[in-house]
Amino acid sequence: MIIYSRNRRLRTNESIRSLVRETTLSSQDFVMPLFVMEGENKQEAIPSMPGIYRRSIDLLVKECKDLYQLGIKAVNIYMKVPDHLKDNAGTEAWNKDGLMQRSIREIKNAVPEMIVMPDVALDPYSIYGHDGIVTNGQIDNDATNEALAKMSVSVAEAGADIVAPSDMMDGRVAVIRQALEENGHHHVGILSYAAKYASSFYGPFRSALDSAPKENINIPKDKKTYQMDFHNSREALNEVMKDVEEGADIIMIKPGLPYLDIVAKVRASIDLPIAVYNVSGEYAMLKAAAQNGWLDNDKAIIESLTCIKRAGADMIFTYAAKEAALLLQS
Ligand code: PBG
Repeated sequence: MIIYSRNRRLRTNESIRSLVRETTLSSQDFVMPLFVMEGENKQEAIPSMPGIYRRSIDLLVKECKDLYQLGIKAVNIYMKVPDHLKDNAGTEAWNKDGLMQRSIREIKNAVPEMIVMPDVALDPYSIYGHDGIVTNGQIDNDATNEALAKMSVSVAEAGADIVAPSDMMDGRVAVIRQALEENGHHHVGILSYAAKYASSFYGPFRSALDSAPKENINIPKDKKTYQMDFHNSREALNEVMKDVEEGADIIMIKPGLPYLDIVAKVRASIDLPIAVYNVSGEYAMLKAAAQNGWLDNDKAIIESLTCIKRAGADMIFTYAAKEAALLLQS
């Protein structure tokens, strides 16, 4: 039999393969999450996330300069809040001289073109390690929204370009949008964690910030009353549509690699930009395998990030951003 159609023709060599390539990866696709702590000239390694550090603001600024040089134009920042500043309402989150607000000012001062996206959530500020205020043993949705709005205005005043609420309370995008408008921050965008699942893949992140829900019989022991159930898919579209209606500028799906079916489904349904978070546990798995010699680190990083983009991501939050940018240069 004569075979006329041969798909292998277009795989013959790298030149033809690159000509027919459907997805390309670039450092401009990346958002680098960074952890910040108090102090000066201080940097602490995070054991479960090889290559990732908590840094004092001076070193954070230096890192932002390096990232910008590599073509990474956005950072997402998280604070390690000292215990004595934590309370139930997360009051420190809107302190105009808090670690978050100082970090934003210093980055914007040193690298004005860098897009700074502070994480807007109460968990690193909460004595209970929850993204919401606890009232009578429950996560208080509407009280939390008011707190998130205060935090959003405070980080906007400090110079944030985009606020990134990662809490999953109902209606918070609308409440935050309204507060930003009322305070004149018309150009500050909202990247909402729209479909965020209750996932075991956040473990390394919570140890980096000491922000896991605390063991206490009077509070929920996990985040399942607000983050989504991983058995569900249609619900993700419902969550995304609500955030779009409420005024989100960019929507996020999180985690990344085990959830690419959700990314593809949302991509087919909306035209807003989609961010995907390649979370701490995904990074930790890859690093652990690479350290054991079981996976080729560099190839696995480029492949996984490309696959996230292929599924429909416009931008990827990834701890491998710097490493990947260096690999793409070489
Ligand atoms: C908390 C927040 C979490 C992450 C980003 N923001 C953890 C959580 O929801 O418990 C996880 C990021 C990661 O694992 O890389 N608001």
